[in-house]
Amino acid sequence: MIVSQSAPPVDFQVHPGGALHGRFRVPGDKSMSHRAVMLGALAEGDTEVSGFLEGADALATLEAFRRMGVSIEGPRHGELRIRGVGLHGLRAADGPLDVGNSGTSMRLLAGLLAGQRFDSVLTGDDSLRRRPMGRVTEPLATMGARIEATPEGTAPLHIRGDQSLQGVRYEMPVASAQVKSALLLAGLYADGETWVHEPAPTRDHTERMLQGFGYPVQRQGAWSGVSGGGRLQGGALDVPADISSAAFFLVGASIAAGSDLVLEHVGINPTRTGVLDVLGHMGADIEIRNRRESGGEEVGDLRVQARPLHGLTIPERLVPLAIDEFPALFIAAACAHGRTVLTGARELRVKESDRIAVMADGLAAVGIHAEPREDGIVIEGGRIRGGTVDSHGDHRIAMAFAMAGLVSEAPITIRNCRNVDTSFPGFVVLAREAGANVEEMHDGEAQ
Ligand code: S3P
Repeated sequence: MIVSQSAPPVDFQVHPGGALHGRFRVPGDKSMSHRAVMLGALAEGDTEVSGFLEGADALATLEAFRRMGVSIEGPRHGELRIRGVGLHGLRAADGPLDVGNSGTSMRLLAGLLAGQRFDSVLTGDDSLRRRPMGRVTEPLATMGARIEATPEGTAPLHIRGDQSLQGVRYEMPVASAQVKSALLLAGLYADGETWVHEPAPTRDHTERMLQGFGYPVQRQGAWSGVSGGGRLQGGALDVPADISSAAFFLVGASIAAGSDLVLEHVGINPTRTGVLDVLGHMGADIEIRNRRESGGEEVGDLRVQARPLHGLTIPERLVPLAIDEFPALFIAAACAHGRTVLTGARELRVKESDRIAVMADGLAAVGIHAEPREDGIVIEGGRIRGGTVDSHGDHRIAMAFAMAGLVSEAPITIRNCRNVDTSFPGFVVLAREAGANVEEMHDGEAQ
């Protein structure tokens, strides 16, 4: 299922008040769901995945592999069985692969497809076709890949197969797990070793999952490396709940007085927990219970209770570790006492929307003073008065403002929320069950 551009708009209407309660599990981790399909498809033997995210982005990756000849049963209640075809068993799809809104699908597939014997075309929706792809096509070209983008360096990407790739040592100018992963996946097909250096730690699910599939990955400080020519062995893989989806409830329960919530089986890989650190520095009460390991990743249950928050200057080292959580964190900042300052976060301008500009406009629309900066934002905590916000089709902005409704003085209408399905199918139902007064509106009618 790809979210269609022409589908009728979906808005959220949030009525003020409510507190969040209960104990539940948010959907599976998006980054890991993509990688589970990719590595399961390239493995030898079957891979059984549980906890898979049945959201449009991960389903776009799944559909791309089906179209390249991989047989995949499911998803059914988050379970998949992938019949791996081995590193050299993919076939050309019968046309362009449309990955919708999903940057992870496009960037990781660019690396993986650069190593195939056949040509491929990758495309996506309007938002994805505006996002920078030079950050993957340029280093891949140094490995010998032939990828044509538009003159602006955007998709569609025409990827020539049958190139012999060479290992490289590449120092990324921006801290990006997608770029790192694209190069490591191309490295599986390259002669010699491929090493990638990250200027700050980024999510390491690709490295961990490759190792889980029996593929050696070397890690030396900020460098990760693979040698071409190995094999992946399929097996069982558990995908924990997505901390990026949990983030909306962590913020909602922190700001809505009287809230007390437990989010179960959340992935707490240390490259993803910046949101816990930032909220902790703001005074939030979040406890990690029952820490355990599952499939090479740390998981835990997160208990969160409401507490007054205060603003802070966010340490720049936490930015890549909380990169997807800033829309939610900006709502926490809007409800905090005092000023929050974010710098070193230029990357937010090239996510599913320009998250600095769109959040600043949305905050202003609900009565919060927010000053966008080139690489961040300054937010003065205050009273959320309500109003109309446009999410610009950005799932995380829509869900962040849905949480703002908990403490708003008047209703908040959030426009263009259809893409919430890309990462969090069932968000409105779960948020309502937890105690938020949010409704999904189609053509102005509550659903
Ligand atoms: C992702 C990496 C991050 C993140 C994205 C998912 C991944 O992007 O924002 O939602 O799965 O590798 P960058 O690596 O470009 O920062």
